[in-house]
Amino acid sequence: MTSAEIRQSFLDFFAKQGHTLVPSSSLLPDSPGLLFTNAGMNQFVPIFLGDRAPDVSKWAGVKPAKDTRAADTQKCIRAGGKHNDLEDVGFDTYHHTMFEMLGNWSFGDYFKKESIRWGWELITKVWGIPAKRLFATVYSPDKSKNDPSEFDQEAYDIWAEIFRAAGLDPAVHIVNGNKKDNFWMMGDTGPCGPCSEIHFNLLPSDDEAAGRKLVNASSPRCIEIWNHVFIQFNANADGTFSPLAAKHVDTGMGFERVAGIYATTNGFKDFAKDPSNYAADVFAPLFAKVAALSGKTYTATVPTKREGLTEQENIDVAFRVLADHARCVSCAIADGILPGNEGRNYVIRRILRRGILYGKKLGLQAGFFEQLVAPVVESLGAVFPELVQQQSIVQRVIRSEEESFGRTLDRGLQIFGKAASAGAISGASAFELYDTYGFPLDMTQLLATERGLTVDAAGFEAEMEKQRERGRAAQKKEILVAATEGDAAVDLKPTTFLGYAQTEAHAQLIEIIKADKDTFLVFDRTPFYAEMGGQTGDTGTALINGTLVQIVDCVKDKAGRHLHKAAVSDQLSALSSGAAATLSVDLGRRRAINRHHSAAHLIHWALRKVLGTHVRQAGTSKTADRMRFDFSHFEAVTHAQLLEVEQLVNGKVIDNAKVDTYETEFDKKPEGTLAFFGDKYGKFVRVVDIGGYSRELCGGTHVATTGEIGLIKIVAEMAIAAGTRRIEAVAGQPAYELVATREAALAAVSAHLGGGASDVVKKLEALLAQQKETEKQLKAFQQKALAGLADELAAKAVARDGLKFVSGVVAVSDQEVLRSLGSQVLAKLGEGVVQLGAALGDKASLVAFCSPAAIKAGHQAGKIIQNLSAQIGGKGGGKPDFAMGGGKDIAKLGAVLGG
Ligand code: SER
Repeated sequence: MTSAEIRQSFLDFFAKQGHTLVPSSSLLPDSPGLLFTNAGMNQFVPIFLGDRAPDVSKWAGVKPAKDTRAADTQKCIRAGGKHNDLEDVGFDTYHHTMFEMLGNWSFGDYFKKESIRWGWELITKVWGIPAKRLFATVYSPDKSKNDPSEFDQEAYDIWAEIFRAAGLDPAVHIVNGNKKDNFWMMGDTGPCGPCSEIHFNLLPSDDEAAGRKLVNASSPRCIEIWNHVFIQFNANADGTFSPLAAKHVDTGMGFERVAGIYATTNGFKDFAKDPSNYAADVFAPLFAKVAALSGKTYTATVPTKREGLTEQENIDVAFRVLADHARCVSCAIADGILPGNEGRNYVIRRILRRGILYGKKLGLQAGFFEQLVAPVVESLGAVFPELVQQQSIVQRVIRSEEESFGRTLDRGLQIFGKAASAGAISGASAFELYDTYGFPLDMTQLLATERGLTVDAAGFEAEMEKQRERGRAAQKKEILVAATEGDAAVDLKPTTFLGYAQTEAHAQLIEIIKADKDTFLVFDRTPFYAEMGGQTGDTGTALINGTLVQIVDCVKDKAGRHLHKAAVSDQLSALSSGAAATLSVDLGRRRAINRHHSAAHLIHWALRKVLGTHVRQAGTSKTADRMRFDFSHFEAVTHAQLLEVEQLVNGKVIDNAKVDTYETEFDKKPEGTLAFFGDKYGKFVRVVDIGGYSRELCGGTHVATTGEIGLIKIVAEMAIAAGTRRIEAVAGQPAYELVATREAALAAVSAHLGGGASDVVKKLEALLAQQKETEKQLKAFQQKALAGLADELAAKAVARDGLKFVSGVVAVSDQEVLRSLGSQVLAKLGEGVVQLGAALGDKASLVAFCSPAAIKAGHQAGKIIQNLSAQIGGKGGGKPDFAMGGGKDIAKLGAVLGG
């Protein structure tokens, strides 16, 4: 079987057992706690938790065989968070950053018996894996550690029966494992349960005792190929486990492992060779490309240590790293996870930079990584069509990353070399490499390990913290928050926010906080929006016991209290807590903010439509005057694209679509709702839905219908960091004012041109054409005048020794004309010497020409100019036939040139 046939045979087998085949979900997970999609079950979490009906037909878009059974191949990345295999990639042959997980699921349908029996049937009967080489692990809690749930007797009994029927001893083939090995969790929280793994003895001999010894012993000669998880619990944030309403099955098979073993064992028959995932044909196009680019050969050696590798071991590690990382980075970018500075985006940047470093070790030319995308698409495009659709975007993103890292890599390596010669890498050096040269810490560690050195990671972290501290100090709001913290007397109940529905409210003054020179008022409830999610805080008034206080800003502290900043005034001293207050938000300003906030959502929607779904919000700010929207994109947005975005959003403004806002549980939000995965969402989230096409999780305030926005104008587009662009736009009144100002300028221009605004372009074009014509004529006249002047000068030539001499001061516009005049005079003289001077601005310029006969007679233009320049306080020189110079004493020109 080829790898593709193995994959297909898995899917066919489960389709036959009534499973609906579904597509792989994106690597960008929907669960807030996950860095990347790390298992096939991620997309089914709401079903496991009972928040959603098992409606797999929705995924498949076809009538399912059964709505309670699903199977697929899922792209997974395990390079951070709870599951992280990055450090092992390349150094062994069976861990990857990105891999395919073949899986089958039961949603409250079949349970352990079917799952295990079908598993056994597929691998031993359909694929022919020798039963004698297989071991099953079963969950056995470690009582002393308070491990969840009981010994999995049910799974044990099923396996015992299976092994016995195969003539094998269950006591040898079943291995118990504790929570670490046999209780599967996707993260710290979420659906989980005891599991039973199938391990494959890959030793040359099928000796059972020897195989059993290697189960879970990190040996490449006995590896786990399939995990059957029996999902029965939800792991809570406090470390406890709650039983779920229904019991589910979640299995996951390492596709590359099975395909690799199949290839190295000649169809599970001959176990002499070292097994390797990289022997699977899915990697073949990548290995071929790396070999072609580097001229080196892969020989499948595996180092036993991390330092002092042989040359060939280094080459083989690099081949594996590049094959793995190219798949990971390509698939991540195709799913909209662009290399960046934070979170999962930084993980992808690190993996890409690690790949670039290994390419350098193989001697590959800068810019090589992009060329690995095509072989990834070649091997995976048929299974994951998004790779084909996004190929050119993936390549462009990688290209721009390679360019920016390429600028600092060599210098960084030099700095590393210098630091390394000190015997250890200090925290400060590691930080400099990170901060100035873009070396992720793990890359510096990798380089250090190769040389048997260590990196002071704690020192690095301390430097990072110092930098964060500097950033924090720059934010005045943090200082303000600190001022209200740690005060035991303060009632830290969050303020009730009424501002979605009303802009005026009665409230009670809870506290008056003085921080520095500022005074902040806290009320039990408020219609004032506190700065959040990039939306600026409200301003307005508070009428407290007859005293009118101006509120000039509103921010939130960590406890969720709205801090109303009061304008400085004597009246503040008259306030006392407990007083009744009437709070009024400046409605006009708030409505202007709403317009910019809704406009930002529309622009986000339009950018994703025009540029692609890799566009994601990276930061934003909305005030009454303008909005800024930062987003992931790898190159400048063209003028045409900006126009299209502006057209799309204004089309939606004219449509006057309704803006719906509602609360829902995170897991029940409508499909396609944009959430910002860096954020931690609670169980309940607020959805802002514009016209059914733009849906975002958002806590801000918005217009009621898009028509209220009036008009949106994009003011600027710019880069703010590698891979991050910014759009600035105005909406409503400021948009009108922008247009009005531009129109006034246009009116002024057309008035000067003597016509209406509609034909200003035509008039301007005509005017420019006319100017060009005039310049042409002017030049012709100048040339004529110059020729006349040359004649005049030549006529005044003095003859001596068979040569003619001209010397004089002329009035010309620039040096070029002076030079041209000199050469024309000489041409008219035939044989002779010409020396001319002119006042140009506040300086005097000189030029001299000597004909061949004059040079023969001992005259030299260079010498003449040298001499003349010196006399007018300057310098100059040149060749015997032509020279230029000048000086500052314009007044002496006449005397020097005898004119
Ligand atoms: N979720 C389990 C795993 O990832 C089985 O699919 O191992």
